[in-house]
Amino acid sequence: SGTSRIDGRGHLTIGGCDAMELAKEFGTPLYVYDEALIRQNSRRFVESFKQSGFAFQVAYASKAFSCIAMAQLAAEENLSLDVVSSGELYTALQAGFPVERIHFHGNNKTEEELRMALEANVGCYVVDNFYEMELLHDLASTANKRVNVMLRLTPGIEVHTHEYISTGQEDSKFGFGVSDGQAMQAIQHALAKKQFNLLGIHVHIGSQIFDTTGFVQAVRIVRAFLDRVHEEMGYEVQVLNLGGGFGISYTSEDDPVAIEAFVETITREVAATWDERDLPRPEIWIEPGRSIVGNAGTTLYTIGSIKEIPGIRTYVAVDGGMTDNIRPALYQAKYDALLANKASLPPAETVSIAGKCCESGDMLIWDIALPKVNSGDILAVLSTGAYGYSMASNYNRLRRPAVVFVQDGEAELVVERETYEDLIRKDRKRAVLSQI
Ligand code: LLP
Repeated sequence: SGTSRIDGRGHLTIGGCDAMELAKEFGTPLYVYDEALIRQNSRRFVESFKQSGFAFQVAYASKAFSCIAMAQLAAEENLSLDVVSSGELYTALQAGFPVERIHFHGNNKTEEELRMALEANVGCYVVDNFYEMELLHDLASTANKRVNVMLRLTPGIEVHTHEYISTGQEDSKFGFGVSDGQAMQAIQHALAKKQFNLLGIHVHIGSQIFDTTGFVQAVRIVRAFLDRVHEEMGYEVQVLNLGGGFGISYTSEDDPVAIEAFVETITREVAATWDERDLPRPEIWIEPGRSIVGNAGTTLYTIGSIKEIPGIRTYVAVDGGMTDNIRPALYQAKYDALLANKASLPPAETVSIAGKCCESGDMLIWDIALPKVNSGDILAVLSTGAYGYSMASNYNRLRRPAVVFVQDGEAELVVERETYEDLIRKDRKRAVLSQI
């Protein structure tokens, strides 16, 4: 996909850079992002919306992969930015991301976080619950600021994805329930608040969704709800935010619809439901994370130990694992991989890829067909761009890998590899303890 190729020597190249050279220059494990592909994914969303005629914002969900360089890139592509913590906000601000296009999310924004966002004048707050509504209003009043607010609703939709990443169902920690009356009450409260400009509502039905039916359902439920709101309060939304969750293909088993199809279905559905009642069309905002960066990321590892259990399995261990990609351990997520130095050789054996952490669950891929594997080979795990680096940890005191952006044969280091000093930076040595 993107600008990944196999060169004459049988090496994997990404963005015109030989993966073997990247591994040598920057070390492994290494996250490599194909910049052209991030831009292409962004533009596919933006162009699809332009064609629809709707006013829109495409907010990149920075939880999928946040660093200063990524926020800069999102700004350049005219995306907006969804942040869910003061840390993501801080990163965006340091990148010089236009504050009016920052949307602040989260189900438990702290007072400190809200103060920071108010100070920065972020573009809007996606208010999740009554506690936050009061807190934000108090802080905004004190600061004498009027803020743009969206209300996050829980539409009561079950989508077919992993339980941990499905968020639209009623029994959820997120948002105001539509069916239990909380959403209606939330609108009433928000409209009564002097410091609030209620832009509209937000729903997010889940992540890694493959088809459009959940989005169609969401639009219909929201529309039925907004009809009641209109009747009771005369309020009409200016903005409809339908969240993220657009699925990508990790292995040949995955078959998501294209970005264009998601946008086309959403815009068609909103147009149909709104035009029918002859009401002004709202702006449509979405928040893709995975579908912008997921397939643009590749992780390079060096293969070390190889343990063959005759007749059972061969464990091929890499120099990273659950610390740089928790998804297989956490969601049984599947990945595809190839040997970057033997990319044109046919498969010769089936092996399982293990990480180096002290956990039996630290397996990246079970049963993958590869050419004959040797220690020292470079393994490229594909489509690791979303929720890999952003969910990375220092378990076993491993140092988090570096991140490079590649394009047109040039590689640029955008996050340095952590050092041993980084690992102990916050440690405090105790004074020598006295002996008894
Ligand atoms: N908007 C909201 C309100 C969200 O909660 C999320 C993701 C997104 C947008 C972006 O969703 P995306 O387009 O990336 O699917 N760690 C999990 C995914 C958790 C998603 C959480 N919310 C994983 O690795 O699969």
